[in-house]
Amino acid sequence: MVNDADEIRNWWSTSIIDMSPGKISFRGNEIENLIGNVSFPQMIWMMVRGGLPTNEEASLFEAALVAGVDHGPQAPSIAAARMAATCGVGINNAMATGINMLGDIHGGAGEQCSELFYEISSRIDNGAKFDTAIEDGLREWKSVNGKIISGYGHRFHKPIDPRAPRLMELVRLAAKDNIVSGKYADIAEAIQSHLSIKKDIAMNIDGATAVIFCELEFPAPLSRGLFCLSRSVGILSHAWEQIEQGGRNKGPMPTRFLPKYISKNS
Ligand SMILES: CC(C)(COP(=O)(O)OP(=O)(O)OC[C@H]1O[C@@H](n2cnc3c(N)ncnc32)[C@H](O)[C@@H]1OP(=O)(O)O)[C@@H](O)C(=O)NCCC(=O)NCCS
Repeated sequence: MVNDADEIRNWWSTSIIDMSPGKISFRGNEIENLIGNVSFPQMIWMMVRGGLPTNEEASLFEAALVAGVDHGPQAPSIAAARMAATCGVGINNAMATGINMLGDIHGGAGEQCSELFYEISSRIDNGAKFDTAIEDGLREWKSVNGKIISGYGHRFHKPIDPRAPRLMELVRLAAKDNIVSGKYADIAEAIQSHLSIKKDIAMNIDGATAVIFCELEFPAPLSRGLFCLSRSVGILSHAWEQIEQGGRNKGPMPTRFLPKYISKNS
């Protein structure tokens, strides 16, 4: 029989932080030893999965975090944050508004993309030939999710999203130095070639960062979570810029443009 004291302590049991008056320790590391000694990307890594990355792993991880910070007010998450900032809410509410726009089609596609990469990877581990694993993995994905492959395609960047080749270059360099395997870069590029048979479809930022998160062995849902963390930087910047610009109650278009009214009778 569990006594009350244990039941209360177990309610939010955690292996992330050991906190008591005068003590703050993250995954066994006292905060005073972390401050000034670990970088912010290393701290993120330690918090979400435990352990500290090597400097080389942290550097690749950081590259993914840098790449996704912003895509300007045409990105729904950024536009939403800016609109919210003109509505009299606090900066945290403006940020939450932007972050809440990140989903399967915008900013959150890395999760499904990682699932696909991991699925194809396990086919290869189970003995399938590389090309067969790509074809069968994609066929199964499409039968469940439809023809659109998460992590590929972009509204503006056609045929190339400039962030992807640079990130892939860094993955290849890391693979050359045995920091990562390079396996997910191979899978991602093979998928891109497969998709581009009829028409160029770029690997996008969600896809390229998913490659890095898979190479660094983050579980698929964290591809989305980490991308949201990265994009929060842009969301914060735009919310703050909008607050400083001082617009009030700004809608999605200049006021002289109005949505077309469609009469039900016409
Ligand atoms: C981002 C996205 C909405 C852009 O869509 P879009 O602007 O309509 O793309 P395009 O106009 O270039 O599409 C051209 C063709 O390629 C197809 N296509 C686009 N992205 C595709 C993808 N990821 N997988 C397969 N086919 C795709 C379209 O269906 C279209 O085919 P069609 O001409 O037969 O209708 C779309 O690519 C997508 O949903 N991608 C997956 C989600 C994702 O990764 N989001 C993150 C974006 S940074």
